[in-house]
Amino acid sequence: MENTFAAEALEPAVSLVGLCGSLRSGSLNRAALNAAIAVLPPKVSLKVLEFRDTPVFDADEQARGVPACVMAMGDAIRAADGVVIASPEYNFSIPGGLKNLIDWLSRLPDQPFKNKPVAIMGAAAGPLGTARMQYELRRVLHCLEAQVLLKPEIFIGQAASKFDSTGVLTDEPTRQFLRQQMAAFLAQIQPSP
Ligand SMILES: Cc1cc2nc3c(=O)[nH]c(=O)nc-3n(C[C@H](O)[C@H](O)[C@H](O)COP(=O)(O)O)c2cc1C
Repeated sequence: MENTFAAEALEPAVSLVGLCGSLRSGSLNRAALNAAIAVLPPKVSLKVLEFRDTPVFDADEQARGVPACVMAMGDAIRAADGVVIASPEYNFSIPGGLKNLIDWLSRLPDQPFKNKPVAIMGAAAGPLGTARMQYELRRVLHCLEAQVLLKPEIFIGQAASKFDSTGVLTDEPTRQFLRQQMAAFLAQIQPSP
């Protein structure tokens, strides 16, 4: 298979974090993140961050003190070279849990998404493959001055047919899209001299 990465050129190691907009155990978006991890070169790591314990944003709670889990999430994103977000579309938009997390993070001093490279992908039951969610997420990340990868975009439509029952990606064109997007993202993070 064609190797689209110049892995040896990626010095020092690149450390990415992932966010999945779905919390369910059998999430196809989590499976897509796993498939993205599998096509990364050896010197690149991608750790998926969990955020299910994030409380609903409340400015009064913020005034009393930002929750430790939000502070830790901010630290992890600041320390990473980039963020990969894989999310479903809920009712044509961003899932509430993910939007809530971003709203919390947006209130932190040294806002963690500012100038942070971000790649977006999504898997959905429908044929549009989260396109509507992705354009809303791009708008939100624009507000936060993230450096969102422009292209290639990844819309995994009719996603259940592209993974097996254990969540392993079985669709080769989708794997190629993931490979191309991760290559473009790494080139954005570490442009060639
Ligand atoms: C609350 C809710 C709203 C949804 N809205 C949409 C939608 O707007 N568009 C779409 O394509 N699929 C929609 N779906 C179906 C999801 O695409 C499908 O459940 C997908 O597998 C969820 O991602 P996950 O497997 O990562 O959990 C919705 C599902 C839920 C639970």
